[in-house]
Amino acid sequence: MKIAVLPGDGIGPEIVAQAVKVLKALASDGLKVELEEAHIGGAGYDAAGDPLPDATMKLAQDSDAVLLGAVGGWQYDTLPRPMRPEQGLLRIRKGMNVFANLRPALLYPELASASTLKPEVVSGLDIMIVRELTGDIYFGQPRGIQINDKGEREGVNTMRYCESEIRRIAKVGYEIAMKRGKKMCSVDKANVLETTELWREIVTEMNKDYPEVELSHMYVDNAAMQLVRAPKQFDVMITGNIFGDILSDEASMLTGSIGMLPSASLDANNKGLYEPSHGSAPDIAGKDIANPLATILSVAMMLRYTFNNEEGATRIENAVKKVLAQGYRTADIYTEGTRKTSCSEMGDAVVKNL
Ligand code: IPM
Ligand code: MG
Repeated sequence: MKIAVLPGDGIGPEIVAQAVKVLKALASDGLKVELEEAHIGGAGYDAAGDPLPDATMKLAQDSDAVLLGAVGGWQYDTLPRPMRPEQGLLRIRKGMNVFANLRPALLYPELASASTLKPEVVSGLDIMIVRELTGDIYFGQPRGIQINDKGEREGVNTMRYCESEIRRIAKVGYEIAMKRGKKMCSVDKANVLETTELWREIVTEMNKDYPEVELSHMYVDNAAMQLVRAPKQFDVMITGNIFGDILSDEASMLTGSIGMLPSASLDANNKGLYEPSHGSAPDIAGKDIANPLATILSVAMMLRYTFNNEEGATRIENAVKKVLAQGYRTADIYTEGTRKTSCSEMGDAVVKNL
């Protein structure tokens, strides 16, 4: 299996280096992987004047899976929009057609006290957020900043979903729900937005193909509130791109730190782009203090979803559990009485526990 490795910006290179250590350790144990690196985001802009250089897109297309760090940095925020790092990320998602973004929010028991919520509210938490990733207001046309008929500047973005886009993501949601607790909550704003009224209609209609799944609906404002009030009511949450962006960040903090949250973005054939749910954290870049576990756990998701290697995936996840049980903590999940650990030490600790 060929894996494209795209470290990107900020803490991207340091966290990806730890995930690569894990892959190499598995390779020395017989896992057949070939890794090839390329630039994306600000690194792509610096190297080739494009946040998604052609060579990177080609490598992604020629690979079986892509491992990505993070993109973005202050120095790029004033570039024209098409040159900004985030565009590289959005274009590779779209280019690979990875429309199904899976973001598990799982609380490791050892981290219950690292959450800002009371341990009894979050202990045992295990939510899978299924976020549509290649449509919605992120990609809808028309868009831009224009002059309106009063001569005033006006920002325009368009929320849109067509039926087939909703169907294919709903199918992913239902199938995941069938493998989990058979409960799915679809999140929308159907009381105000027609786009999501259609979303609700289609998700509801498809419930007849998955009668065992208990389907519920929630408006996004209520869902945001319920996530901090009683998050354990959720099993699978399915939603569109923008709501999923927001709710998955919110859900991540239930687990102690966004630094723990992996993600998988899959196309219709389970080819995937794997990245931590968090961003490039330029404020701590290069300091070797970032938490690499989200990226390492993204590799576990890669083995599970793209390579059908459940054994390898479980091996990584168990190693992460052991490391936490042994008290290793990066700064974001550190609490008194545990072992303050650097990014690279965390990578080594996971390798040792494989
Ligand atoms: C995410 C990020 C991206 C998104 C940004 C960096 C474009 O926030 O992966 O959640 O909005 O999708
Ligand atoms: Mg986000």
